[in-house]
Amino acid sequence: MLRTHTCGELRVDHAGPKGGPSGQSVTLCGWVHRRRDHGGLIFIDLRDRYGLTQVVIHPDNSAAFQAAEKVRPEWVLKIVGKVQKRIEGAEKAESLTGAIEVTVETLEVLNEAQTPPFEIDQDKEINEELRLTYRYLDMRRERLRKNLELRSKVFQIIRKHFVEEGCLEIDTPCLIKGTPEGAREYVVPSRLYPGNFFVLPQSPQQLKQLCMVGGLDRYFQIARCFRDEDLRGDRQPEFLQLDFEMSFGTQEDVQGIIEGSLMKILKECSTKKLRGGKVERFKWIEVMEKYGSDKPDLRYELPLTDVSEIAKGSGFKVFEDALAKNGTVRALRVPGGAALTRSEIDTWTELAKEMKAKGLAYILFKDDGPSSPLLKFFKDGVLDQLQKATGAQTGDAIFFGADKFRIACASLSKVRGEAAKRFNLIDTSIHAMFWVTDFPMFEEQDDGSLTFSHHPFTSPNPEQWKNRKEKPLEVHAICYDLVLDGYELGSGSIRIHNRQLQSEVFDMLGISREDAERRFGHMLKAFEYGAPPHGGFAYGIDRVVMILAGEPNIREVTPFPKDQKAKDLLMGAPSPMPERQLKELGVKIVQE
Ligand code: AMO
Ligand code: AMP
Repeated sequence: MLRTHTCGELRVDHAGPKGGPSGQSVTLCGWVHRRRDHGGLIFIDLRDRYGLTQVVIHPDNSAAFQAAEKVRPEWVLKIVGKVQKRIEGAEKAESLTGAIEVTVETLEVLNEAQTPPFEIDQDKEINEELRLTYRYLDMRRERLRKNLELRSKVFQIIRKHFVEEGCLEIDTPCLIKGTPEGAREYVVPSRLYPGNFFVLPQSPQQLKQLCMVGGLDRYFQIARCFRDEDLRGDRQPEFLQLDFEMSFGTQEDVQGIIEGSLMKILKECSTKKLRGGKVERFKWIEVMEKYGSDKPDLRYELPLTDVSEIAKGSGFKVFEDALAKNGTVRALRVPGGAALTRSEIDTWTELAKEMKAKGLAYILFKDDGPSSPLLKFFKDGVLDQLQKATGAQTGDAIFFGADKFRIACASLSKVRGEAAKRFNLIDTSIHAMFWVTDFPMFEEQDDGSLTFSHHPFTSPNPEQWKNRKEKPLEVHAICYDLVLDGYELGSGSIRIHNRQLQSEVFDMLGISREDAERRFGHMLKAFEYGAPPHGGFAYGIDRVVMILAGEPNIREVTPFPKDQKAKDLLMGAPSPMPERQLKELGVKIVQE
């Protein structure tokens, strides 16, 4: 090693008596964090991953002094010197090395540096494009470094837990055939088979199931997954899942093992308590009815109220029309909401419309009485009934969603989230984690066809499956999501292990026998060779770390993330391919 100690390691025990020569002799390497010239002395804060150490260069050491006069921020130095106690009054209690400094004997410049495009030693906001372009400089800053340390710790806890649970860590390939999991796929052209493509896995779903057919019994992997989808703060085109699968286990067995890992992570990486002291459990319909979402943030309450009965004869056409079309009318009481301005309500209305709502009706209960564009339509008594049903008081507001159940829920859930932020209702001293079970097996698409809610390998509830033709939307799946602080952390299910049932599910999804054979023939075949009952789960590791770190998006906890437009700014990817390479791959670019 070029050094004897790190820059975060030296304490007063390493120092001799003040000013004396008996301090320990040390060699440190690091980056120049800051240089200060003070009355003939030069002070340098030398930085590495472990901390900062103040080193002092005296003018009577003229070789070191001359070298120190030249150094600039981010130069890499090696210094040899003696550890000494700082003089009284110069100690820095907030720094672990704040009681000592190192008096330099020799100073060697290991490398010079250009002036960085942003300051490493300031904790101010820096343009994200710059941070991503110079990710290696961003890594020298405390925020990213701490987040990556946390990420590494989470990996270790996960590995230990799943190995202790008897799982084999199995790595599955990234060059595979597509798995339908709801997102567009990244494809890789094959040179040896022009016109043919590999697909990068959206998850190792099929492979982990095949490991169960292979008798491996319990599997886990920290798996890299790829999804070409619209990006949001909690999504990246490539991300990591803790992926788990077990044979002969029930839903409760899978949940127990997953929950165990997350409880360890929370215990070691968070000081916050869990809401209700445990991981709660809700059915899908319960959370949808109560909060309008299958992943509500329960660090605040803000429940919805079904006001369809009152709305039925209310006189307000929007409500009555929605009910006439088999829809629903839901209300959200926002405490303090009467203080909202017109433009805030307009913004929320736009958000509701993004969720396909046609509008966002509201009533403000102001000090001088209720105010709303709806009042003129309401029949006598309707206002009182709505106020009673929602518990709205003077100073509050009520917002309404009148539409199909899912749209009314989605729009009010969006408003619920905005209201919690606007009125500071989120209890940030806790985590709210819960299971959501009994999801519908299918969802209806705009064109009336069915799609899967989870993925097509999920088992349906056997009793309800018998009525699938008549009541497809009433079939529940044996699948379960885990939600943490309003984020979907993960999903899992008990899988289909029977070829006949798998074919029936493909039929319901409108996947023809030929198509199923072409895309999933290998799965169907495997089911004919003694597939055991099995089930599993996967959670997003980036999301876990983001929540624990209190960061607003997963780019902050990802070493080399793509930007919000799915680009790698550091390497400049994606990038055009030379003509020669395209030819070799048999790929022709069609310009739009
Ligand atoms: P699912 O598609 O729900 O399930 O994914 C599991 C979890 O992975 C995380 N995740 C993401 N994280 C970051 N960026 C993304 N683009 C992204 N997409 C998903 C989320 C999500 O909850 N094979 C099934 C699991 C199973 O059934 O075992 C699956 O992939 O936290
Ligand atoms: P309108 O009569 O269309 O001008 O709407 C009156 C109010 O009802 C406005 O505040 C709209 O935003 C709201 N509104 C319209 N359609 C809906 C709907 N489907 N659900 C909730 N509010 C709505």
